[in-house]
Amino acid sequence: MCGIVGYIGKSEKAIPFLLQGLEKLEYRGYDSSGIAILNQNEIKIIKKQGRLKVIKDILDGKKELHSHLVIGHKRWATHGNHSDVNAHPHLSKSGKISVVHNGIIENYINLKKDLTKKGYEFKSDTDTEVVAQLLDSLYNGDMFETIKKATQLLEGSFALGIICADYPDTLFAAKKDSPLIIGLGENENYIASDIPAVLSKTRKICRLKEKQIAVLKNSDINIFDFNGNKAKMEISEINWNVNAAEKNNYDHFMIKEIMEQPEVLNATISPRLKDYKIKLDNLNFNEEYLKNLNKISIVACGSAYHVGCVAKYFMEELIKKPVEVELASEFRYRSPIVDKNTLVIIISQSGETADSLAALREAKKLGARVLSVVNVVGSSIANESDDVLYTWAGPEIAVATTKAYSTQLSLMYLIALYISKTLGKITDDNYKDIIKNIESIPEKITAILKKSSSIEEIAKKYYQTEKIFFIGRTLDYAVCMEASLKLKEISYIHSEAYAAGELKHGTISLIDDKTLVIALATQDELFDKTISNIREVKSRGATILLVTTEDKMDKISEIADDVIYVPKISNILSPSLSVVPMQLLSYYVAKFRGCDIDKPRNLAKSVTVE
Ligand code: AGP
Repeated sequence: MCGIVGYIGKSEKAIPFLLQGLEKLEYRGYDSSGIAILNQNEIKIIKKQGRLKVIKDILDGKKELHSHLVIGHKRWATHGNHSDVNAHPHLSKSGKISVVHNGIIENYINLKKDLTKKGYEFKSDTDTEVVAQLLDSLYNGDMFETIKKATQLLEGSFALGIICADYPDTLFAAKKDSPLIIGLGENENYIASDIPAVLSKTRKICRLKEKQIAVLKNSDINIFDFNGNKAKMEISEINWNVNAAEKNNYDHFMIKEIMEQPEVLNATISPRLKDYKIKLDNLNFNEEYLKNLNKISIVACGSAYHVGCVAKYFMEELIKKPVEVELASEFRYRSPIVDKNTLVIIISQSGETADSLAALREAKKLGARVLSVVNVVGSSIANESDDVLYTWAGPEIAVATTKAYSTQLSLMYLIALYISKTLGKITDDNYKDIIKNIESIPEKITAILKKSSSIEEIAKKYYQTEKIFFIGRTLDYAVCMEASLKLKEISYIHSEAYAAGELKHGTISLIDDKTLVIALATQDELFDKTISNIREVKSRGATILLVTTEDKMDKISEIADDVIYVPKISNILSPSLSVVPMQLLSYYVAKFRGCDIDKPRNLAKSVTVE
């Protein structure tokens, strides 16, 4: 995933805006940065490997550089390694056209071959430079027509920002499968991959829809489809406060977002829960449709997949129908048994994850109805689903997801309860009891967050451990998967989630006196079994950190070296609580290890490439 920003306007001070916008998009990729400016009718490009600071330092020495038409880019490498030459923007052979791009051009090799035959030479390994030379080869003086033709030839995903020296008053953009927004200013307009880049200037935005071209001038914006037909510009008002995209006074976005969970869970749950009635926005699963459902298939990646793993347990319990959970990158390449009687649920924070978007398209091709649970309004997955339920988590900037995971999980509870109730699979008392418990989740998480310093103490004790296992049974095991990923992706400690009952079938051979075993035991009927699994690993020298519910206090003998208690709640809802100390533990461990928590190495916030 990369970050794009562009400006067209009266001000000659476009460069400072561009730099602040790129800074806000650092979370989208930070291998290299670059800007292209139109200055004295010539396009000048400054681009370097490394963080944005490198560009800023160069510009500090070029105070004379001004421009009213600029594009900029933050790269997360997909084609070609991190290097100056592979950084964007790319310049056409004529020097007249420059492009920044987020996405993957899937037919760039064939296009490159054709262009090479026409005498084009390539400096970089990127697919984006192919776009620049393709535009060059098509350019006949009419830039709009040129872009139109190019979009017909490009396959794959692209959000493009384009400037042309012959069009000093115009900024061009095109969108297919990768996000791109337009910001509307006063006598100036902007493009960006995401809202934080333009928030300092405007709250009025338009999300480009699939296969659209935008032509922006100082005070005039026109949008067309790829065939050149005019399209309506749908403007929305962003109601985030500016801080929403800032760290406030937290050290990292991640801890800010962990602490925001009670608030965003309220924002996600309460509009959909009134007087025990569940209102899933304009989702209308009628009884007939639900009765004919032969299964539910949850498809996602990473942490969103882990939400599905938790949901499988409680959905099957509540709905009494098969619930499958699958990695999107697997689902899309096998022959999934999916048809019109399958409800496919795609879970995605960004709504732009390439594998999840492709799985969605595959499911629709097979006739399934697709419901997506997404955090980014108007994102590709949201736009292409039959139904979408938004998590109102606000912008999630930290690469390691926390509040999006929790709000996704809360929506899965509501979906499961809604279907269970509609199908008459749940008694009124049980339904009301679960609803009451769901409503208590935010306050219970607040109680856990208040104990974050004790979790910080535990992290201080164990942050140098190099071998960690997370074990649990059923729902606890599913939370272990997320706990393990959180720890791995920000502290770089190799850890593994393991079904507690499975450890003895081989992997227990890895347990020794250097192993920390973090055991989750929140499920009442399985508590004793998990305790006996803990004894098994303890007898082999492991150190034990136990996570369990407060009502178990009198049942914990000396078996655990440390214990983290979470408030008691309905068993099926305990993942909403037990995941929080795991998020905090990972955060503090990574902090003690001096890791780059918000921008872990090798990662980006949204994986819009395969
Ligand atoms: C989670 O901490 C990771 N950053 C990653 O696994 C993420 O959950 C995954 O890439 C899916 O992203 P999405 O929710 O935006 O589709």
